[in-house]
Amino acid sequence: MRIAQLGVGRIGTFHAATLHDHADVHELLIADADPARAAATAERLGAGARALGSVDEVFAPDAVDAVVITSATAAHAELIRRAARAGLPAFCEKPIASDLSGTMAALREVEAAGTVLQMGFQRRFDPGYRAAREAVRGGRIGRLHTARAITSDMAPPPPEFITLSGGLYRDCLVHDFDILRWVTGHEITEVYAIGANGGASFFAEAGDVDTAAVLLTLDGGALATATATRYNGAGHDIRLEVCGTADTIAVGVGPRTPVTSVEAGSAPGVPDPWTGFLDRFGSAYRAELAAFLRVVTGDLVNPCDGRDALAALLVAEACEVSRHERRPVEVAEIADRAAKPDAA
Ligand SMILES: NC(=O)c1ccc[n+]([C@@H]2O[C@H](COP(=O)([O-])OP(=O)(O)OC[C@H]3O[C@@H](n4cnc5c(N)ncnc54)[C@H](O)[C@@H]3O)[C@@H](O)[C@H]2O)c1
Repeated sequence: MRIAQLGVGRIGTFHAATLHDHADVHELLIADADPARAAATAERLGAGARALGSVDEVFAPDAVDAVVITSATAAHAELIRRAARAGLPAFCEKPIASDLSGTMAALREVEAAGTVLQMGFQRRFDPGYRAAREAVRGGRIGRLHTARAITSDMAPPPPEFITLSGGLYRDCLVHDFDILRWVTGHEITEVYAIGANGGASFFAEAGDVDTAAVLLTLDGGALATATATRYNGAGHDIRLEVCGTADTIAVGVGPRTPVTSVEAGSAPGVPDPWTGFLDRFGSAYRAELAAFLRVVTGDLVNPCDGRDALAALLVAEACEVSRHERRPVEVAEIADRAAKPDAA
């Protein structure tokens, strides 16, 4: 297959190496808003990778078999729409867009074109989360009553990323909302969200928070919490605890979990903590792209489509309304807004 990769920043560079190394990709075409970045990545990868002078070349007739979108968030929706118009299957990093109207417009165009859109919620490909889903769905924990999701980045991304990110709920916690739905099989129906700024001023200047906590109600009555921070000096801490009447299970708890017990007899620290998303989820990122290539060839049903991304984004949107208006917000309130034709 000939695959185009659009955007080679932090995550795009990693995905480019994965695609380049994959046996089914015979040529990787790389484009970036900054052509020098595309050229540098292609040169680093060597034979089988080629930089394009502009993104437009990707959408020329018969140029490629599929596109992988890893540009800055602000460019996702337009690139998704262009792929749909060109009849191309697309993999896109989350989110579809940082707002509801952009998301709905892209989704409607993809659905009208009938093209594939696979979204990059890589936790669905992590062995721990997969085992949790099987355990919950298989009845091991009994009746689910609570879940606790944690997303703690070791250090903040650059200020220019934050400005374009959509904020902590849409950028980070959206992963927790997606995985809560996927692991438990329950929809999130209501949220109450708070946020705080104790770190660099660029978060508040962008209207964002660097730390957040959310109370969530799931259909069926279970309750959950999700917390996130950009400042977790101990390491990159991504966990989920799922608790039921018969058992409690945990994802992300192991020798590299950046948490030190202060109980007597415990080890004094964590010698090799996870340090970032590429370290924590490297194999999951590779697995999701391998899955995408099988979706492109028709060998696999899309494991994470645009509707999944919308469902998680609706929860993130509800969090922003909740934080600003300091009230519990039903996700249905946001979904009703999204369903109106003028949302696009
Ligand atoms: N799934 C995950 O765990 C995960 C992790 C990190 C980032 N992401 C997502 O991936 C995306 C990229 O994040 P990043 O950290 O790599 O950002 P980044 O800022 O490091 O890189 C973004 C790249 O996109 C390029 N770009 C901007 N507009 C473009 C356009 N119109 N066409 C082509 N290229 C364009 C920029 O020049 C830059 O090279 C974001 O949407 C982010 O939410 C997901």
